Amino acid sequence: MTAGGPFDPWSREFVARPYPAYAWLREHEPVCWFEPSRQYLVSHHEDVNALLRDRRLGRSYLHVFSHAEMGRPEPPAHQEPFWHLNNNGMLDREPPDHTRLRRLVSQAFTPRRVEALRPVVRRLADGLVDAFVENGGGDLIAEVAEPLPVTVIAELLGIPEADRHHLRPWSAAMCGMYELNPSREAADAAVRASEEFSDYLRALARARKAAPQDDLVSALAAVDGLSEDELIGTCVLLLNAGHEATVNVTGNGWWALLRNPDQLELLRADRDLLPGAIEELMRYDTPLQMFERWVLEDIEVRGVPIPRGSEVALLFGSANHDPAVFAEPERLDLCRKENPHVSFGAGIHYCLGAPLARIELAASFGAMLDKAPGLRLAQEPEWKPGYVIRGLEKLEVSL
Ligand code: HEM
Repeated sequence: MTAGGPFDPWSREFVARPYPAYAWLREHEPVCWFEPSRQYLVSHHEDVNALLRDRRLGRSYLHVFSHAEMGRPEPPAHQEPFWHLNNNGMLDREPPDHTRLRRLVSQAFTPRRVEALRPVVRRLADGLVDAFVENGGGDLIAEVAEPLPVTVIAELLGIPEADRHHLRPWSAAMCGMYELNPSREAADAAVRASEEFSDYLRALARARKAAPQDDLVSALAAVDGLSEDELIGTCVLLLNAGHEATVNVTGNGWWALLRNPDQLELLRADRDLLPGAIEELMRYDTPLQMFERWVLEDIEVRGVPIPRGSEVALLFGSANHDPAVFAEPERLDLCRKENPHVSFGAGIHYCLGAPLARIELAASFGAMLDKAPGLRLAQEPEWKPGYVIRGLEKLEVSL
């Protein structure tokens, strides 16, 4: 078997059930070179957690090296609009720029602003679930999981209602570039979406600068030290990061609960379990399976030397199923006491939206538990082909 064993992120079977392959990797090749994506795979919780915090690695290398100095090719010219937008958000910047951007965005995206959203989010979730129940069920993803986080982040940023239908297609097209070895077609779609998204937000930011309103775009437009491109990159990051994973935690989470009726019963019987249950659902079926880092100086992980210029793939889904950290990791246990999952990352890029994500998930799972006590599966769901951002196509349920 080649290095990487049963790890095959392009196969539908693997995407449907990656956890047995992770167990194989942790046991046989905890750190290994994977030729098809030219990356080192890292599968143990201890290593993933340590590398996320290790400053000898970065989400980008452009703050210290040129592409040539890292021995990497320049990105193709036709992809420039995508990379320009991507590289202006904080996620793909490193200190000192990352520190500056994260501080400035945190000034506008304050805990107070986020906490104030709690009742608004619950009202939105109640409305969506009421309509879902009135219709007798349907696709939980399209009707509840998707519209909630998209509406919340659009409200927060101040995207007018009439324009919101663009957000999901733009975001989905851009996120195609975060999968392993994207096709030319996926890259072209991402470039088109990046151009349209940027043009749209540039116009909106200018309008808000001239006539501020009580929203995050106006607040960011008023911040000193943030360029217009950085403002746009930040809004796109918030819009994309702000809903893709939340949709998948809701879909994957309900699918996990429906397959584990004893756990669902426990949760129905004791609603105080909900916060811990959400953490466990995020661990059990990890919505973002992998994040990458560039190696900025030679390192060694578990005795494997990894030279500068390499890319490592940190397997979050594997880290979250590591028996060294989680007792019986393949069991959904909503009462798990210790749950140091890495689903929100760690280190300087730790998810800025984690408090908001937890509010959204509590609202949507809470509303569904309250209003749909007889929820059951109507049709076996299928996984989308994407591995990195991993979620169900549909989740058809009846009441
Ligand atoms: C359950 C839902 C979510 C999950 C699982 C999630 C996960 C993550 C992860 C793993 C990272 C770090 C990536 C890395 O280290 O390479 C991250 C970063 C980030 N997330 Fe989230 N996220 C979620 C929801 C949100 C929401 C709702 C928002 C905003 C409204 C958001 C905004 C961000 C931002 C801005 C960053 C970049 C932080 C930085 O670079 O300093 N996320 N997220």
